Amino acid sequence: MVDSHAWQVRQYPDPHVTEDCFELIPVALPDPGPGQVLVRNTWTSVDPGLRLRLRPDAPSGYFAAFPLGRPMDGIFTVGEIEHSDDPDFGVGTTVWHSQGWRTHSVVDVAEEAMNGVARLRALDVSAMTPQSYLGPLGAMGLTAYAGLHVVDGLSGGETIWVSAAAGAVGSLVCQVAKLLGHRVVASAGTDDKVRWLLDDLGVDAAFSWRDGPVVESLRRAAPDGIDLYFDGVGGDHLEAALEVANPFARIALCGAISDYEREPTGPRNLFLATSKNLTLRGFRGSAHVSLLDEMQTRLGAWLADGSLQSREAVFDGLASAPTALADMLAGRTVGKTIVRL
Ligand SMILES: NC(=O)c1ccc[n+]([C@@H]2O[C@H](COP(=O)([O-])OP(=O)(O)OC[C@H]3O[C@@H](n4cnc5c(N)ncnc54)[C@H](OP(=O)(O)O)[C@@H]3O)[C@@H](O)[C@H]2O)c1
Repeated sequence: MVDSHAWQVRQYPDPHVTEDCFELIPVALPDPGPGQVLVRNTWTSVDPGLRLRLRPDAPSGYFAAFPLGRPMDGIFTVGEIEHSDDPDFGVGTTVWHSQGWRTHSVVDVAEEAMNGVARLRALDVSAMTPQSYLGPLGAMGLTAYAGLHVVDGLSGGETIWVSAAAGAVGSLVCQVAKLLGHRVVASAGTDDKVRWLLDDLGVDAAFSWRDGPVVESLRRAAPDGIDLYFDGVGGDHLEAALEVANPFARIALCGAISDYEREPTGPRNLFLATSKNLTLRGFRGSAHVSLLDEMQTRLGAWLADGSLQSREAVFDGLASAPTALADMLAGRTVGKTIVRL
């Protein structure tokens, strides 16, 4: 038996995530059986998608809701193998898997976790940090890359607007889009984030969505319209994109975080998709595991030569995970939000 700790849900947020929604409990883990490994987790992920599962029913088709009173399952995490009989996963190997928000996990080697994207995987940490596999070399990089792929945005040479641009996915989309030769317009929620996007990530224009109606800020930042929109926000942001979109523009519907803690609001101008011949394409990174190797090769090379930055908002200790989630949802973090265990 291994003494471990795990977070479980005590009550669902109403509407905002607070620490008392969760409970940190001791768990006596059984020794791993055949086809299983024991992992000591070192980094765990904090994602907006967790908020979609902190309710009695998750959105149809999405990862399942977290049941009350049971350790939370289906959260990206990285760790080191402490016990294994599997020759492909020796003791000491750094891996990712799906049993985050806990100190230790017994993982089934063959489990197709989280649509297959979080299946136990050995990670090459000779040149990259373990936690980069929770960011640019993991699900965040895959989401950024797949989103550009599904709207035919990997060729470059167009104008793209990226919302939630200073966050985990958005900051990667901005940089990859610049490297591909797009003109990049970015939006975020504070002046400091806007400065970072302009000065450090080198986007062409940026604005704070809190400075006035989004559609007006977007028109000023993209006077010739937008050809692509990478949407992490939904609501008024998606409405603005429909207004400012050029004919035949394409929109990657990645997320709608403005609706995660309230009744969804729209868009109210969807007919513009018809009148302008737009494409709105919903997608999930986990549906594009086939792009993982290609993404890791390209983003890994850009990370290695310094042309891609990976910023992290690090919280220390498993106990900080609920605070990290609340801070990230409220816009108080920059880059990829992670917990060091
Ligand atoms: N489709 C997929 O497979 C997939 C995978 C991962 C993530 N996602 C989605 O992608 C989006 C970004 O995720 P992430 O992991 O990169 O998170 P993130 O951007 O690191 O953090 C979320 C950010 O959203 C912004 N935000 C919160 N409320 C907002 C509001 N009302 N209006 C505008 N912005 C708001 C905040 O930044 P500001 O300070 O800038 O407001 C916050 O920092 C989310 O919608 C998420 O659900 C989708």
